[in-house]
Amino acid sequence: MESLPLPILLCSPLLILLHAPTSKSDPLSINCPTDANYTANSTFQSNLNLLLSSLPSAAAPSGFYNTTVGPSGADQVYGLALCRGDVSSAECNTCLTTAAQDAVAKCPRGMSNTLWYDKCMLRYSNYSFFGIADSSAQLYMWNMQNVTDLQLFDDQLGHLMNNLATEAAYGSGRPPMFAAGKANFTNFLNIYATVQCTRDQTPDGCYGCLTTYIGNIPACCGTKQGGRILGETCTIRFEVYPFYNLSAVENAAIAPPPPLPPPAGSSQNTGNGSSQTGGKGSGGINGTTKTIIVVAISVVAAALLLLSAIFLCLRIRKKQRKRVRNALITNGGDEQEIRSAESLLFDFATIRAATSNFSEANKLGEGGFGPVYKGILQDGQQIAVKRLSVSSVQGLVELKNEVVLVAKLQHRNLVRLIGCCLEEQEKLLIYEYLPNTSLDKFLFGNTGDSLLWGESYTSTHFCGIV
Ligand SMILES: *[C@@H]1O[C@H](CO)[C@@H](O)[C@H](O)[C@H]1NC(C)=O
Ligand SMILES: *[C@@H]1O[C@H](CO)[C@@H](O)[C@H](O)[C@H]1NC(C)=O
Ligand SMILES: *[C@@H]1O[C@H](CO)[C@@H](O)[C@H](O)[C@H]1NC(C)=O
Ligand SMILES: *[C@@H]1O[C@H](CO)[C@@H](O)[C@H](O)[C@H]1NC(C)=O
Ligand SMILES: *[C@@H]1O[C@H](CO)[C@@H](O)[C@H](O)[C@H]1NC(C)=O
Ligand SMILES: *[C@@H]1O[C@H](CO)[C@@H](O)[C@H](O)[C@H]1NC(C)=O
Ligand SMILES: *[C@@H]1O[C@H](CO)[C@@H](O)[C@H](O)[C@H]1NC(C)=O
Ligand SMILES: *[C@@H]1O[C@H](CO)[C@@H](O)[C@H](O)[C@H]1NC(C)=O
Repeated sequence: MESLPLPILLCSPLLILLHAPTSKSDPLSINCPTDANYTANSTFQSNLNLLLSSLPSAAAPSGFYNTTVGPSGADQVYGLALCRGDVSSAECNTCLTTAAQDAVAKCPRGMSNTLWYDKCMLRYSNYSFFGIADSSAQLYMWNMQNVTDLQLFDDQLGHLMNNLATEAAYGSGRPPMFAAGKANFTNFLNIYATVQCTRDQTPDGCYGCLTTYIGNIPACCGTKQGGRILGETCTIRFEVYPFYNLSAVENAAIAPPPPLPPPAGSSQNTGNGSSQTGGKGSGGINGTTKTIIVVAISVVAAALLLLSAIFLCLRIRKKQRKRVRNALITNGGDEQEIRSAESLLFDFATIRAATSNFSEANKLGEGGFGPVYKGILQDGQQIAVKRLSVSSVQGLVELKNEVVLVAKLQHRNLVRLIGCCLEEQEKLLIYEYLPNTSLDKFLFGNTGDSLLWGESYTSTHFCGIV
């Protein structure tokens, strides 16, 4: 590997970086495209207000509701609200009431908007998105704490996540399209995870979304003790402490079959004023977690063009770097972006040499997402190479996210992830290799959340956004 130039952010429109919520009732993030605004005092606005006033109380009992307001036409508003599967109706109502209040305040005039909170999400738009699986918009968050036994962790996490995805999509659990569970990690740490889809999804749509996100864990937060990927139609999260209500999930598992899911909404919902406010929020178990949030949103056609060009080029073995450079130049990338993207690329041949052709002797283990090999680069740097399994065939969107994430990680001096290699069938993520450090240094209680979400990252601004 060449010496890396001081990393520079690949500041594409795909990346929107937001600051951590400053209070725990702030949204984790919002997705508020500014390309379509409604006008003040329009019919659309009054339909939206109606929608927002009715959603919390409509969704609270079952944890989900989708509805449309207004006669079909340009002024119709489509909306849905979803609460995390383990929260009570009262908490659900509280969370969604906040969301409904934040919606317009934080996205004035936006015709489409999605808000994510710890315990709920709310989405509306002027077009019908019901039943359409969309895993393009993604919000990545990760726990600052590193995993000490990467292979074991990946292995356990991969299995847990895949089981949960199947259960959520095709199981008959309560509530629907939600699954939570834990797996043994070490003697004193468990991995806890939840997966959830909005209930307008088909089982296949749900499963597709979840497995896409699970496949992105290595790029998002594969070396971390916790991470979340939040999207428009599904969300996943894992931690080494119980972040969801264990007893609520266990009770649901042994409870009699669920009462039938949400009443199909009338398509002319007239709303009913604001919801009753249930017991004031009992306070998240996370305390004041500070987070940096990255949203990768494919909205800008130009960006897609740029990225398509990159990947087209990546497929071509020879003169890889040169072509990336040309692609970036053609698409108006500046010198800094080009260097940033280039610095992340490794030749497959380089990695093959570093790992003695992926020999068994170099194999560190088999993670949930594919084998991991130890290697030594020519300059002596020790690396761990994660060879993403060919079976988890990913599409352009996922690759794009991986690369964007790698760019971001590098920028933030997370030297653990130092590059990637995307050639033909091969998808490699290259990490700095660190000899095992003792886990004993970190004594976690079950709610060990104090030093988890990254403090040091909260003061950094990127792209001038937020
Ligand atoms: C919509 O409104 C936002 C601010 O409220 C503004 O930045 C944006 O340019 C507007 N978009 C259009 C298409 O007018
Ligand atoms: C919208 O209605 C409010 C209250 O009726 C009024 O104060 C405001 O001026 C109106 N805005 C526009 C742009 O018409
Ligand atoms: C809610 O979503 C389902 C599933 O896509 C859809 O069939 C139904 O029409 C939606 N409900 C309303 C009120 O639009
Ligand atoms: C939603 O609003 C945008 C901007 O006004 C418009 O281009 C689009 O056609 C609308 N979609 C529908 C389904 O009305
Ligand atoms: C995690 O690992 C990275 C890279 O090795 C290091 O810079 C960072 O300080 C570690 N984080 C913690 C909380 O130990
Ligand atoms: C997890 O560990 C506990 C205690 O070490 C053990 O009793 C339990 O069987 C383990 N569960 C699994 C699924 O391995
Ligand atoms: C967890 O769920 C149980 C049963 O549903 C409930 O009694 C308890 O209050 C919940 N705990 C928290 C912290 O919300
Ligand atoms: C609407 O609110 C009124 C009183 O505020 C109540 O009597 C009625 O049952 C409510 N309707 C629904 C559908 O919640």
